[in-house]
Amino acid sequence: MKFKELIQQRYSVRSYKNQEVEKDKLIQILEAGQMAPSAVNSQPWHFIVVQETNNHRKFSEIYHRDWFNEAPVYIVICGDHSQSWKRNEDQKDHCDIDAAIAIDHMTLQATELGLGTCWVCNFHVQNCIDFFQLPDSIEPIAILSLGYPSDKGSLQKKRKPLNEIVHWESF
Ligand SMILES: Cc1cc2nc3c(=O)[nH]c(=O)nc-3n(C[C@H](O)[C@H](O)[C@H](O)COP(=O)(O)O)c2cc1C
Repeated sequence: MKFKELIQQRYSVRSYKNQEVEKDKLIQILEAGQMAPSAVNSQPWHFIVVQETNNHRKFSEIYHRDWFNEAPVYIVICGDHSQSWKRNEDQKDHCDIDAAIAIDHMTLQATELGLGTCWVCNFHVQNCIDFFQLPDSIEPIAILSLGYPSDKGSLQKKRKPLNEIVHWESF
């Protein structure tokens, strides 16, 4: 798939088929995350894959939506604040930025493989930390639901026009 087509095809999938995701496809998606660039190449991320029925069921306490429960796989993307780069001038922590790039790589790879994803950040953070017993420096940044879409989605993207977001030479 050409890049332009790929970014058009990706959309937030909130309806999934009851169909398993093949292991080799899952690995390709995780590898796409692994290949993402990061500040000073710190790679401050961990990807927790949740598929087992028991974990899956309990996971609904982390983000409770009917469509979310349909997804056969979740990937919890965690940032490691002990590894991420802090800019000298103002100590800005680049953990979220790095994690976001890895997540975007994964969503695009999934699309190319005919799979659908949805970013979820509006989850119960403390429930997630408790569920995985995450150490102090590890923050769950986002959850990706993953599976075969059971809807078509719209290719019509609601986006601000370019002239509202692009500034040539000055703001
Ligand atoms: C950082 C981030 C957080 C998001 N959190 C949620 C969420 O908690 N729940 C949800 O249903 N969608 C969530 N989304 C999906 C957005 O609503 C969606 O990307 C946006 O409406 C654009 O639609 P599209 O992805 O179909 O192009 C999130 C997206 C991003 C990038």
